[in-house]
Amino acid sequence: MRTVIINGANGYVASNFINDLLKQHYKVIALVRGNGKDPEDRMSKVLAHINDGKEINTSNLEVYDYSLIDKKFSMNENVLKSIFSGSVDYFHFAANLKYDEKSVEEIFSTNVDGVKNSVQVYLKYATDSSRFFYIGTAYSCGKFSGLFEEKFYENKDISAFRNYYEQSKRFAENVVRTNIQNNGLNGHVIRLSQVVGNQETGITKTDYGIFDFSKRINSLANRYPNEIVRVHVDPEATQNLIPIDTVTGQLIKVVEEKEVPEIMNFVSKNPVRNSFIIDTLNELVPIQLIPVKNLEPNTMNPIERRISAGMSFTESYVSFDVLFDTRQRDTFLKNTETGPDYKSIAKMMEYFIGTLSKKKTKIDAA
Ligand SMILES: NC(=O)c1ccc[n+]([C@@H]2O[C@H](COP(=O)([O-])OP(=O)(O)OC[C@H]3O[C@@H](n4cnc5c(N)ncnc54)[C@H](OP(=O)(O)O)[C@@H]3O)[C@@H](O)[C@H]2O)c1
Repeated sequence: MRTVIINGANGYVASNFINDLLKQHYKVIALVRGNGKDPEDRMSKVLAHINDGKEINTSNLEVYDYSLIDKKFSMNENVLKSIFSGSVDYFHFAANLKYDEKSVEEIFSTNVDGVKNSVQVYLKYATDSSRFFYIGTAYSCGKFSGLFEEKFYENKDISAFRNYYEQSKRFAENVVRTNIQNNGLNGHVIRLSQVVGNQETGITKTDYGIFDFSKRINSLANRYPNEIVRVHVDPEATQNLIPIDTVTGQLIKVVEEKEVPEIMNFVSKNPVRNSFIIDTLNELVPIQLIPVKNLEPNTMNPIERRISAGMSFTESYVSFDVLFDTRQRDTFLKNTETGPDYKSIAKMMEYFIGTLSKKKTKIDAA
């Protein structure tokens, strides 16, 4: 069994992957930045959160503090030599998920310089039989129309993207590409679409994307119950959502297999229509949302303006409808049932809204 090294290990997707790897008895090295806290403690808290407080066997888990952009990760050289010895699958998950112009330095420092440094550390210490996996995003397609293939695309100016996050993730892919071509990196890119909760249980412990939107609408509904408000959303457009259990299952398959394609799009085969998400929210929270494709700001009432301001990120994705090529992924995985179906999305949204009201009850009681 290969040892799996994962950076950004305490993040949402990485920690769920680690949880599944540990259940399957893989040896896992987790790189977690301290950020003023104890990295080991951060990792155990996140694993406890995933497992609803239940203990899992962590005897195969080692946690190390590191600094993504510092030389040799600011780690002891002997530790680096030791963790990279043998056949290792190294997964680069760490990323800054901000997107706005004022955070551009921070975004590029983590998402591009961080990847450059990660590749350097890997090239210096990893053996020839090891593999480097960069976790990218399907949204690095930017303002693309047509079929987004499982291949590298050139770096482009910011005008080709919705935000700096997308651009930085494209640039990072090209860091991997250059190192494959020039420095013999055994590198791969796995692009994810929007990762949601667990499709079997509905348990949803992320507040990214549609859940961030749901959280904002829920808080507005509590403030202005029973209002009828228009939102700038194209009801016919879709969201490409991929359940966390699907992602981790597919990543485990990557670790299991000897031959892995250079690039794969881990996206859903069943995009979910925005109208369904809006209808579900209308059932779950005391507000009536009306999706309007071309909602002009000057026609909005104050509540609609408030929603629109809070949607600055989500709004650029509300009429997104790119097609993703998955031929390489499909050949690799063979069984590519991705989910989620509409029923499981409704279950996740119900779970998520439920956790918000529990939090609110706690706040009210405090
Ligand atoms: N979630 C999605 O829907 C989605 C979709 C497509 C692609 N992805 C990709 O999947 C990966 C994981 O995403 P996620 O949603 O799991 O994100 P997340 O929960 O925000 O986790 C991000 C991780 O990166 C770490 N990180 C951020 N800045 C860092 C820095 N400067 N130095 C070191 N570590 C740093 C964070 O550490 P701290 O906790 O210390 O900040 C955290 O461990 C990312 O590469 C993302 O681009 C995610």
